[in-house]
Amino acid sequence: MRIDIITCLPSLLESPFGDSILKRAQNKGLVSVHVHDLRQYSTDKHLKVDDYAYGGGAGMVMMMEPILNCFRKLQADTDYDEIIYMSPDGEQFSQKVANELSLKGNLLILCGHYKGVDERIREHFITREISIGDYVLSGGELAAAVVCDAVIRLLPGVLSDETSALTDSYQDDLVAPPVYTRPAEFEGMKVPDVLLSGNEKKIEDWRFEQSIERTKKRRPGLIS
Ligand code: ADE
Repeated sequence: MRIDIITCLPSLLESPFGDSILKRAQNKGLVSVHVHDLRQYSTDKHLKVDDYAYGGGAGMVMMMEPILNCFRKLQADTDYDEIIYMSPDGEQFSQKVANELSLKGNLLILCGHYKGVDERIREHFITREISIGDYVLSGGELAAAVVCDAVIRLLPGVLSDETSALTDSYQDDLVAPPVYTRPAEFEGMKVPDVLLSGNEKKIEDWRFEQSIERTKKRRPGLIS
């Protein structure tokens, strides 16, 4: 998979991809993430990428030209399966959307800033708009990093234990069961006996029941 991210604040995206699982995934050649500085595509001598909103009002709007210059340059070398715009009014991101995106080949992600992008970009060039929640961030970069993290960890070979993504919360519309590690007893607090029993079937059943109980209690809306 190849992911290209367009931003006017590229430094915000240096650390999420420079560490841990995301870095390993790139080192293993399972994904390549490329961050592009939108200002480099401005034709203005001050590298301007935004301008006043027609009709007035506070806040600047991201201009069409630098974005289209960047899209066209990238599209000359790569066919994108989705051109995504990160925006608080987009489709709500979820495990289902992450699963779907993980099956795509190449993704192009545009991070919004200021009051957002000129509507004509959204209307004519964007294929999908994603929000990571009902709150407004100062830009789409952190949201793009969230989406990339959730997608990349699903790519085959990224996680060392291949099955572990399948048992994540939300994979079956259930939250994950509780987990424990050694010691079996710490300051009087014990690990449930069933987990020490060695009986795989019983452990599997217990985990499933716990998932259902937890989902009912914490996220009842997930259970249909
Ligand atoms: N940009 C600003 N806020 C956002 C959000 N909640 N989701 C995605 N992109 C955003």
